[in-house]
Amino acid sequence: MNFKSLRVYLEPTLRIAVETVDETILPDHEVLIEVHYSSLNYKDALSANGNKGVSKNYPHTPGIDVAGIVKDSKSDAWKPGDRVIVTGYDLGMNTYGGFSQYVRVPSDWIVSCPDSLELRDAMCYGTAGFTAALSVEKIVNNITPDAGEILVTGATGGVGTVAIAILSKLGYSVAAATGKATSAAFLQSIGAKTIVSREETNDQTGKALLRSRWAGVIDTVGGNILSTAIKTTQYLGHITCCGNVSSPEFSSSIYPFILKGVTLHGIDSVACPKEHRFKIWEYLSTDWAIPGLYQAVHEVTLDEVPEQLDLMIKGKHQGRTIVNLKNS
Ligand SMILES: NC(=O)c1ccc[n+]([C@@H]2O[C@H](COP(=O)([O-])OP(=O)(O)OC[C@H]3O[C@@H](n4cnc5c(N)ncnc54)[C@H](OP(=O)(O)O)[C@@H]3O)[C@@H](O)[C@H]2O)c1
Repeated sequence: MNFKSLRVYLEPTLRIAVETVDETILPDHEVLIEVHYSSLNYKDALSANGNKGVSKNYPHTPGIDVAGIVKDSKSDAWKPGDRVIVTGYDLGMNTYGGFSQYVRVPSDWIVSCPDSLELRDAMCYGTAGFTAALSVEKIVNNITPDAGEILVTGATGGVGTVAIAILSKLGYSVAAATGKATSAAFLQSIGAKTIVSREETNDQTGKALLRSRWAGVIDTVGGNILSTAIKTTQYLGHITCCGNVSSPEFSSSIYPFILKGVTLHGIDSVACPKEHRFKIWEYLSTDWAIPGLYQAVHEVTLDEVPEQLDLMIKGKHQGRTIVNLKNS
């Protein structure tokens, strides 16, 4: 069987091409999936740029998200025709990824697509939406909507936009921090109440504590913006940390923790235990569903993926982009 895949080459120089490949190129795992949709995530942009911290071996096919139909299975857990989702684990990192019309993955990586979600809807969330939901869960479990504003950083990004939309749906008042001066209307349309410039969330005073402003923070960028979030969170506030777009390093004194009792939660979507995965997909398909997102996403074909990944690596991408593999 032949099908189309995006291939990234590092030799002689970085090159991305959509090619027709043979099934024998896929790794020898248990379940063959016909990919209907994938989606774009920051990690894909790193992998497509030859970042060896994400993908060690090239030529390579990135794509950390898949929604599709099982075509063949050596595992009793799955049968042809099953509607499935794969996110995280090693998909698209060092395992042949979802920017391809077929993937073959270990049985354990797969979850059933909830009945109330179309495969396309599932990829409107994708890893970014799943991570947003993991972050929102920490806020919901610890902070009530009347406690004050929740700051979301990297607001126009994939994680940021889904986090804002879910928080707003759940009745939280959301402040969106963005570096894009022209995106205020977009952020308000998905539920942000206050728009904050990136500079405002990037303290340069070096002080250990600043005026308490946020009941909670969903930080998607790391670096000094995370340091600033910790200083500006109010007494007993909660902060989630999932991303490193700004920097993987951050510094903090212990004072926000011992004088204001703030809590910093790490968020990991990659190895998230299976039971927790089911729970998060259930939330996304029921109480936390944001059907408005399904119309608002940007849908592209495989040929358009390199251009979108380039925007993403330059920090110019906005919202969620899904890849239609059936029409590619
Ligand atoms: N822990 C996990 O399991 C997990 C899962 C998914 C994603 N992530 C990480 O979460 C982060 C966000 O992912 P994503 O898919 O939302 O990425 P994305 O769509 O590329 O969005 C990132 C956003 O960050 C902001 N930004 C870009 N460059 C920046 C800079 N130099 N300084 C400060 N802000 C900057 C931009 O938003 P504005 O212009 O609006 O500020 C951008 O849209 C990434 O680091 C990703 O690797 C982690």
